[in-house]
Order: sequence, then structure tokens, then C-alpha cells
Amino acid sequence: KILILDFGSQVTQLIARRVREAHVYCEVHPCDVSSEWVREFAADGQLKGVILSGSHASVYEVDDKAPDAVFELGVPVLGICYGMQTMAQQLGGKVEAGKTREFGYAEVRARGHTALLKDIADFTTPEGHGMLKVWMSHGDKVTEMPPGFKLMASTDACPIAGMADESRGYYAVQFHPEVTHTVQGRALLERFVLEICGTRPDWIMRDHIEEAVQKIREQVGDEEVILGLSGGVDSSVAAALIHRAIGDQLTCVFVDHGLLRLHEGDMVMDMFVGKLHAKVIRVDAADQFLGHLAGVSDPEAKRKIIGREFVEVFKAEAAKLISSGASTKGAKWLAQGTIYPDVIESGGAKSKKAVTIKSHHNVGGLPEQLGLKLLEPLRDLFKDEVRELGVALGLPHDMVYRHPFPGPGLGVRILGEVKKEYADLLRRADAIFIEELRSTIDHHSGKSWYDLTSQAFTVFLPVKSVGVMGDGRTYDYVVALRAVQTSDFMTADWAELPYALLKKVSSRIINEVRGINRVTYDVSSKPPATIEWE
Ligand code: XMP
Repeated sequence: KILILDFGSQVTQLIARRVREAHVYCEVHPCDVSSEWVREFAADGQLKGVILSGSHASVYEVDDKAPDAVFELGVPVLGICYGMQTMAQQLGGKVEAGKTREFGYAEVRARGHTALLKDIADFTTPEGHGMLKVWMSHGDKVTEMPPGFKLMASTDACPIAGMADESRGYYAVQFHPEVTHTVQGRALLERFVLEICGTRPDWIMRDHIEEAVQKIREQVGDEEVILGLSGGVDSSVAAALIHRAIGDQLTCVFVDHGLLRLHEGDMVMDMFVGKLHAKVIRVDAADQFLGHLAGVSDPEAKRKIIGREFVEVFKAEAAKLISSGASTKGAKWLAQGTIYPDVIESGGAKSKKAVTIKSHHNVGGLPEQLGLKLLEPLRDLFKDEVRELGVALGLPHDMVYRHPFPGPGLGVRILGEVKKEYADLLRRADAIFIEELRSTIDHHSGKSWYDLTSQAFTVFLPVKSVGVMGDGRTYDYVVALRAVQTSDFMTADWAELPYALLKKVSSRIINEVRGINRVTYDVSSKPPATIEWE
């Protein structure tokens, strides 16, 4: 196993992710663990190496350092950015406070004499120097290497951008190998953990399940847990994992707000109750939600109502479970499918001890209000790892790889006032669109158009337009199809769906959904448009 000590950088979990990608087990712990803790952690003889992360702070602002035991274990140590600086200081070198910050792309001259950088280069200069394209983010820099260290990498701005004492297995780089902008970063980290530390690449997601299950059992003991199941990827995977760990000690609360997609509620119940045999309370609150939404057409007002009602309904169900009700002892934990990007988004990653709560549906603050302890078993994982975990837990591929669906659901896909009649029409039209996207395969890539798009859905426009059908004139509603491709949802391009696919979807919707006589395709990019219409 590899120990990653976190000095508070935004990207520490990326180091963990790269190590997991090399199929090596790792754990991230705060840098201020004690030396005794480190010795205890290594006592099973399994610890093969330590990585010291970067920090958002300067060595001159904070006095975080690695526990001394790290340098007494006789295992390789890799320092990254701040980790390099603290390594230099702790082992007798010097660090100077920077006047300017070096941030972004840099080209580093790599000295190929070390095991870490040997034969790794992105290009070679005319003088024959191997160069690496890397990502830097630092103010301070090492100005004097500790005794025993040799120069491993340099840039003009940072003459000591990498150093190593290979006799002790100590390596340090000023740049960030964990981010994808450092082209050889993955190769470099793999080389460290596999070759230099000598770990075996035998860790797989299945092992993660065992570890996570163990951890959940230790955490909750024989107490009961409540989880808000939405049918989305994160809460589904969290539910499946926790259920695997504690079975009937988990009760899921699934709030059906009446703004879900066609048959979605039934599919969630089939999966979790039918196949996994989990306890799920389905709260059919459609009338309540629609009642409160009547007469409201402002998008933000609609969002607020849906969010507020969701919390109310969930709290009422949770209260029953807490004051025993279904259980004899009463629930003590609230589980959430918070994943690592949510933690970063809410600023939690900056502070090692901060507890952050997923703000989806504005449920922030719920655990305190309900007096429950928080259980977040996916907190360290990235989205694609959560998906991989879901598949390993036996969840269907289609569920785990589905497009994101907004918390307010169809509430923001029916423009203006939400009515049941509109929701019913939209659900059927949308189901046709998604079905055709899933079944139309692009022959270049061999993938379905569903997989080739990041998000696709139908929007209901509450306007009527004229059409003809048979001998008669129709005067019916319009829907817009929306399909986008994006990697971060901050910017997005409309997808160039094949005309034949659009044609089929359009004709099916108009023929099969009485009440809609016109289908349009949204060809707006984000920005300036947004992905959703509201
Ligand atoms: P926009 O429309 O802002 O959407 O380009 C970006 C992404 O965010 C999703 N989205 C929401 N998700 N509650 C959510 O949980 C919301 O109120 C909400 N609004 C937009 C949207 O589906 C897209 O993936």
C-alpha cells in the first residue's frame, strides 16, 4: 500500500486516483498525523511508499511538515510541490519564499540519470536534453538541496525543479505529475509506485468494495442509516454499497415528486427492492409538489419550491425513522452520495477538517437539523470511479452510465407553469428521444448516440402551433430536443445528431404522442445559451 499525506492541495485526490489507476491500494491521510500513527500504519509491513502532496499554502504561511517517521521507515518517498519543499527543509536543504508565483504550463529539463525520469521525455532539445511538458503552481522554491540529493529536473525560473537521493529512495518534483496537463505525469507516478516502491498492480475496484464495506461496518456498527435515493448515479451507488455493507440497517427514502422521467420511479423500485432486496420507502408526493407549483412560472421560484418541498417530505419521512417507526432503535446516520468533485466544489478540499455536504436539492444542513451523523462512502472517488464501483456492485450499466438529471427534474424542462398534463406529454416524448438515442449506433465509433452525447432530453414548450394530420387541422404543443456534448458542463456544443435519427424521433413523437404536433432541435451552444432551458 501507498500512504499519501495531504497538505491541503486541491488536487491531492488526483494523486490517489492515479495510484488507483496503477492498480495499487492507497490511503490519503492529513499531513498532521503523528509519527506514532505512521509507524502503526506501517506495522503490517505492507507500506511500500509515501507521497507528500502539494498545498494551497506556502511553507512560510503554515508550518505543516511530514511526520518525522516518514523518513525513518526505509521506504521511498515522493514529494510533490509543497511536499518537495517540506522534504527539502526537513532533510537539511533550503527553501526560499518566492516573490512571484509560477503558475501553469512549463517545460522542464529532465535529467535522465534517476530511476524516476529515465527515458521519460516529451521532446528533445537540439542540444539533446530531454524535456517534459508539465504543470506548475508554486511561489516558493527549493534553493539548496539537502545533503545526498542530486538535481533531477530544472527550469529557467526554478533551477531545482526536481531532486533525488536515490540511495534512500527519496524523490521530489516541484511540478504536479497528478494533473493531466503534465503529459508524462501518469507514467511518472506509475513508475514511482510500481518500480521504485515495488508494489504489485493487483488492486481492483472489487477490493475497494471490500475495504469500503469494512469501513462502513466499523463506522456505523449496529446503528441504522437513512439515505435519500434519487435514482441518480451517486445516490444509487452509495445505496448499493451501503446495502452490501449493512443490509437491512439501511432504509432508503425515495421521494417521487411527480417530475421524474417515464417509469423512472418503478425502475428504481424494481432495481433496489426487486433485485437488491433493499428497504426503500417510496413517497408519492406528486400531488403535493404539483399543488405548490400551480400558478408559478418563474424558473428560480419553481426551483425553490421543489427544493423546499423535497426537504420537507424527506424530513418528515426521516423523522418517522428516527423516532423508531420502522426500526426499533431509530436511525442515527444520514448517508449521502457525495463524491469528490462535490467536495471540491463546496470548498471542502481546501481545509482538511472541513465537513461538507452535497448541496443538491439544498439538503445542506439536514444532518444537523435531524441530529444525524453523516455517512459519505463515495467522498474520495471521482465520477468515473463511482461508475466503475456501481458496475462492480452489480448495478446495470444503463443506470450507472446515464446522463445527469437535474434535481428539479422535469420541473425545469416544462417552460413556465408546471402542469400534470404537460409533464405526461413531455415524459412520453422524452422516452422516445432517449430510446432512439440508445438504439442508434454511430458506425465510426461503434457507440450509441446516447453514449456519444453528454446530456440529452426533451423540453416542453407551452405554445400551440398549427399542423395537419389526415384530413384535419391540428393545433397542438411543441417540444424541443436538446442534445449536447461537453466534458465539464460549463461549456457545451450542441450535438450533430444524424438527420435520420432526428427524423425518426420527430415522426415517432408526433405520431405516438397525441397533443404534440411539432418537434424542433435546439442548435445553441453554451455559452451563450445554457444546457437546460430554464
Ligand atoms: P445549465 O442549464 O446551467 O446546466 O447549462 C448545467 C448542468 O447542470 C444541470 N442543472 C441542474 N442540476 N439542479 C440540478 O441538480 C438544478 O437546478 C439544475 N439546473 C441545471 C443541468 O442538467 C446540466 O447538467
